[in-house]
Amino acid sequence: MSEKSRVIRILAISGSLRSVSSNKALLRAAIALAPKGCAIAMYDGLGDLPHFNPDIEASNPPSVMDFRTQLQRTDGVLISSPEYAHGVPGVLKNALDWVVGSGEFVSKPVALLNVSPRATYAQESLIETISTMDGRITAEASVTLPLLGRGLDEAGIIADVDISRSLQSSLVAFVAAIMALNNV
Ligand SMILES: Cc1cc2nc3c(=O)[nH]c(=O)nc-3n(C[C@H](O)[C@H](O)[C@H](O)COP(=O)(O)O)c2cc1C
Repeated sequence: MSEKSRVIRILAISGSLRSVSSNKALLRAAIALAPKGCAIAMYDGLGDLPHFNPDIEASNPPSVMDFRTQLQRTDGVLISSPEYAHGVPGVLKNALDWVVGSGEFVSKPVALLNVSPRATYAQESLIETISTMDGRITAEASVTLPLLGRGLDEAGIIADVDISRSLQSSLVAFVAAIMALNNV
């Protein structure tokens, strides 16, 4: 398959472990609404990663190796995260810490979704951390969608015309940015 026609792969990461998480629901909707020629897969190992400790890096924990492999195989990373106490949830920051040294985010296109207009600290912090890791934040694909308190699941998000249209536009912009950055 030529570079021009190959599928663009995106790894979706929710910063919330909650089973009925709105961030997870948004990412599941993104998977369902993925543009043609793009496949989005959910990373579900966030809660299995050990606490980051440089002392155990050399022992190559299997969950960490799996996370790194999934990142290496993806063309872009789509993150949707809640804000906890004006910060990034510990599980998400922990996951990012595991790939600072190994470099999977270097030059990696990243889009940030946000389900809450009032949650600005975590978004700013993610931008700072991922930029420090040399990830490429795609501003045009990073959107805030007003889901807080609405209790929408994946189907509800897809059924909401305004939200699903904004999500689709974000995904189209992200795929275009990935193709431009990778010269695909
Ligand atoms: C421990 C905790 C701390 C929170 N801190 C903030 C906060 O600082 N700012 C904010 O906007 N929302 C805060 N929230 C609200 C969550 O960000 C919000 O409920 C979010 O939608 C949860 O995402 P989820 O549905 O994907 O689990 C907090 C929630 C919890 C449980």
